[in-house]
Amino acid sequence: MTPFLLTFAIVHCADEAVMASDQKSSRSIIAEHCIECHRVPGFAEEARNPDIKAPDFQAIADDRKTYTTKRLHAFLRQPHFPMRALILSESDIQNLINYIRGLRKGSSEID
Ligand code: HEC
Repeated sequence: MTPFLLTFAIVHCADEAVMASDQKSSRSIIAEHCIECHRVPGFAEEARNPDIKAPDFQAIADDRKTYTTKRLHAFLRQPHFPMRALILSESDIQNLINYIRGLRKGSSEID
């Protein structure tokens, strides 16, 4: 392997490791703080309170015109009623937005 390829391989692997851990941390935030009200693909529904009219994460992911990155970002910086006060860090917010974006099938368009 040439030094260039070797460097590329190392950097690339490190990138993937970071992405995997970001996904894992989003999943644990979602499991702990969001599925009580939101339906999220891949998570059990038992804990969800159907009386609370929270949009499905899949619907948020699919309606990119409404739920722009800017809107999600501004929204997630504040706890929202009736969600208990939860202050998310900037990187948690970014990771959650990426996670929601990842739910959308067959498109990588940018808003
Ligand atoms: C106790 C219930 C509850 C919990 C817990 C909760 N939400 Fe919500 N969420 C709502 C309700 C109700 C709405 C719709 C009303 C509104 O927009 O304020 C909403 C709306 C949203 C929206 C749409 C925002 C928009 O622009 O209209 C997003 C994104 C969202 N929640 C993300 C999250 C995330 C991420 C978590 C976990 C960190 C979470 N919510 C936890 C109740 C909850």
